[in-house]
Amino acid sequence: MHQRDYWESLYREEYDSFIKYNLYGEDWFEQYTDGGRKIVNFIDILRIEYTGSQCSFLDLGCGNGQFLFLLDPTKFTKILGVDYSSSAIELAKEMGEKKNSPIDWLQADVFALPPRVSNDEWNIIHDKGTLDAIELQGTKLVRDYLQVVVDLLAPKGYFIVTSCNKTLDELVSILDGKLSFYRNLTYPVFRFGGQEGTVLVTAAFVK
Ligand SMILES: C[S@@+](CC[C@H](N)C(=O)[O-])C[C@H]1O[C@@H](n2cnc3c(N)ncnc32)[C@H](O)[C@@H]1O
Repeated sequence: MHQRDYWESLYREEYDSFIKYNLYGEDWFEQYTDGGRKIVNFIDILRIEYTGSQCSFLDLGCGNGQFLFLLDPTKFTKILGVDYSSSAIELAKEMGEKKNSPIDWLQADVFALPPRVSNDEWNIIHDKGTLDAIELQGTKLVRDYLQVVVDLLAPKGYFIVTSCNKTLDELVSILDGKLSFYRNLTYPVFRFGGQEGTVLVTAAFVK
């Protein structure tokens, strides 16, 4: 199955469950992030350091949008969630209407963003699991994707990425020369075969 079809059918099932049973779908990695709140707090600190007040926020590969609903929209000039899965975006829109949320949603491929997104400069770009998903389709795509991120970021803007596939060192290495490592969130450490690791990495990079 092509990966895009996989996401489409996953979010179609979530959409049906939401319409029929009012069940909210899964926020990726929620079991490690206190339901996303750890990352929200991390973002809040960076936002205050960046502008002292408000900034724009773009989520690439937002999925069902659950994570974005955790943000306080009054703290951002705008929040936009982008995903290439139409069922994910339909679901996010449905939930957003129910919550009376001001968040914007757009169905688009990150490699073919319309001018309304690509002509803008974003203060914070967020990625939770999207880099991982793109990497499954090829390592060259990862380089292309990171260039998209760099081009979209405003000067001094943050790229905040959460990955289950990459270590912090690997993230720093693939972003070398493009963005500078700024800070990371810590998760419980495990040891195996004399090596230390964490189940997840969340790191902020600055342009
Ligand atoms: C692991 S899920 C994470 C979803 C969401 N960020 C979360 O944390 O729950 C990866 C998401 O990336 C999206 N995605 C993958 N490749 C994409 C692309 N080229 N353009 C837009 N979205 C993409 C998928 O549709 C999927 O929603």
